[in-house]
Amino acid sequence: MSNDRIATLFANLPIGRQVSVAGWVRTRRDAGSFSFIEVNDGSTCSNLQVIADRGLDNYDTEVKRVNTGCSVLISGELKQSPAQGQAVELLAETFTVLGWADPETYPLQKKRHSFEYLREIAHLRPRTNALSAVARVRSRLSQAIHRFFDERGFFLVHTPVITTSDCEGAGEMFQVLTGAEADQRGGRGEADKGFFGKRAGLTVSGQLQAEVYAQALGSVYTFGPTFRAENSNTSRHLAEFWMVEPEMAFCDLSGNMDLAEALLKYLLADVLAHCPEEMDLFNRFISKGLIERLQHIVDRQFIRITYTEAVDKLLSSGKSFAFPVSWGVDLQSEHERFLTEEVYGLPLIVSDYPAAIKPFYMRVGDDGTTVAAMDILVAGIGEIVGGSQREERYDILLSRMQKLGIDVDEYQWYLDLRRYGTVPHSGFGLGFERLVQLVTGMHNIREVIPFPRTPGYAPC
Ligand code: 4AD
Ligand code: MG
Repeated sequence: MSNDRIATLFANLPIGRQVSVAGWVRTRRDAGSFSFIEVNDGSTCSNLQVIADRGLDNYDTEVKRVNTGCSVLISGELKQSPAQGQAVELLAETFTVLGWADPETYPLQKKRHSFEYLREIAHLRPRTNALSAVARVRSRLSQAIHRFFDERGFFLVHTPVITTSDCEGAGEMFQVLTGAEADQRGGRGEADKGFFGKRAGLTVSGQLQAEVYAQALGSVYTFGPTFRAENSNTSRHLAEFWMVEPEMAFCDLSGNMDLAEALLKYLLADVLAHCPEEMDLFNRFISKGLIERLQHIVDRQFIRITYTEAVDKLLSSGKSFAFPVSWGVDLQSEHERFLTEEVYGLPLIVSDYPAAIKPFYMRVGDDGTTVAAMDILVAGIGEIVGGSQREERYDILLSRMQKLGIDVDEYQWYLDLRRYGTVPHSGFGLGFERLVQLVTGMHNIREVIPFPRTPGYAPC
């Protein structure tokens, strides 16, 4: 079966040509001896209007019975449309119903449904205009990420999902247990020897393994699913999310910031140029002024401040925060929001955080109290990128790991990288769903991943 895609028909307008389209019925309206059937095939936000006249063999038996959700295959001639708001319509010569959808039970009807309701039908929600637009933009962004790195000579590295190292050291790993181990333990979930006699879990970040390849291939990146067993029920946290993680040998913190800024701008510019229909839909129905705000991010230089400057700004603002600020505390979302939305109005790169609130692998500054870390904060979302220059000095890294109580025997391979031909190197993680939130204006992160996993919730 090889059918025409509706998006391609709208782009090329092959008027007078015989085409065949397969898709799902959005609406049917009968007028005299015709039925107007709006069909969508998932390739575009717009529906194709199909005109079926009663001359069709199955007009009374089938065409007049189709309703929202039925799948259909239609062949006929593409005509210039006399109707306003659409360039073409399809005059049906054959009209086949592939699958019926009982209107009494089909959960998607013509009206607008709330996103909360749609989450309960994760298997059907991509058939809605908003969620299918998100899925297409997500796909475009994924491919743009690979293009960006390919154009700059980066190599893609597939880092493991099952790992013994807890990169962020925050104890937020899901543990892995073989079936046999689970049975042996009466399903009690003690995972200390769960992976064939060894403790292992699902990765929280591909960074440590990306560092291995950066110190062999130069510039690499990984882009895959990561997992966090944190009990966060917010509009920007998932238990399973995708992360884009470049890692560059011979690169310092400032080069790292440059790359992160260039990547974000490239991705926003790419969707603005290539997904105009979807962006228009988000701009009108999800977040007013979205396109303008994204263009502003593409056009302006990000602001770079240190953590110390950020804390000073917060303290001197005179604003009272629910979580009081002082040097040494981690910035909370209310602080990030204030800085990005009320003070600067632009993406903000905050660097040089206190060592005590950041993971073991970050490079310790000359002052001994800060690390060469950088987070990028954006309005409405907060932290979208987290990265750092890595500690490349063996002795300093070892003593920091020991101080933090990390089992250094488990990380000999990581220390080896500092023992043999160590180099300054840097990298960052871009939360892919937070990026899709930024681009689509979607309020809740659960709407920008096909099958969200949050505490106690994993549909399909
Ligand atoms: O700041 P994070 O924890 O950094 C790391 O994991 C580093 N190892 C990355 C690196 O340097 N290669 O996470 C990076 C980004 C955050 O800035 C955020 O955008 C996203 O990942 N993120 C989440 N997104 C959705 N749900 C969660 N629970 C997230 N936790 C982090
Ligand atoms: Mg972070």
